[in-house]
Amino acid sequence: MDYQAVLEQVAADVAPLVGSGRPAEYIPALAAVDPYRFGMAVADVDGEVHGVGDWQEPFSVQSITKVFTLALVLALGTGDLWKYVGREPSGNPFNSLVQLEYENGIPRNPFINAGALVVTDRLQALTGDARGTLLEFLRAESGNDGLEFDPVVAESESAHGDRNFALAYFMASCGNMRGPVSRVLEHYFWQCSVAMNCRDLVLAARFLARHGVRADGSRLLTRSEAKQVNAVMLTCGTYDAAGDFAYRVGLPGKSGVGGEIIAVMPGQYTLCVWSPGLDARGNSVAGVAALDRFTTLTGLSVF
Ligand code: DON
Repeated sequence: MDYQAVLEQVAADVAPLVGSGRPAEYIPALAAVDPYRFGMAVADVDGEVHGVGDWQEPFSVQSITKVFTLALVLALGTGDLWKYVGREPSGNPFNSLVQLEYENGIPRNPFINAGALVVTDRLQALTGDARGTLLEFLRAESGNDGLEFDPVVAESESAHGDRNFALAYFMASCGNMRGPVSRVLEHYFWQCSVAMNCRDLVLAARFLARHGVRADGSRLLTRSEAKQVNAVMLTCGTYDAAGDFAYRVGLPGKSGVGGEIIAVMPGQYTLCVWSPGLDARGNSVAGVAALDRFTTLTGLSVF
């Protein structure tokens, strides 16, 4: 497969959509990003990377970090995570509060904010340094030792994080937070602020295409666990648009409000696309269209 030619075709096909939608506005540091950026990369399971457009430009990784913290907790934990967070689509926006009270403080899945806060809480309990453990993992898998948090984004998240405070304190009231809430939130805000580019992300996510095997050949997840993470990405990774994303793209995927999306074809490749204009559900307009074109042109999807 000539991935470079496919990416160039995809970029040309979606060019009219780049700039559609609106960058996330609820975090000022994200609202300032140029909506006309577009980058896309693919890595095969051996780590050969191709890219197009702004694929080497760093952006704020945001909710995509939820995939990596979940994988780390599954790898390091005691196997009881799923007692504290579910694995069903929520059908609600990623920062919704309403379901939590009906469901006794157990979030529907690890990819909505409430679920990700539970996962970060567990990672903090397991390691004593959730954000540091995440950054070390991302550096190792991407081969980029220069990866860093963006303090401006982290501070902006914290200053405008009232919803996340509400979610975390509510879960604490239900007994579903182990650590001090303020500490969990601090790690979560910094976690979201990691700056990476499409190249870094396709390499960092590669263990999901390699059935749990890391870049250095060691195993992070069992084959079953890698399947489980991919399955939850497929059903819950793009929030209340997960059904439409599966229909259009046909791959496990995870989006973030910076306008980035990763997608995984187990056994074959990982994809990352970035374009900051979001649709009403918080997914990149040009990004979803580009992934849709990629699987259509290549005929390579899990279906
Ligand atoms: O929790 C938040 O609001 C963000 N820092 C992460 C949001 C995000 O990317 C979720 N989804 N699109």
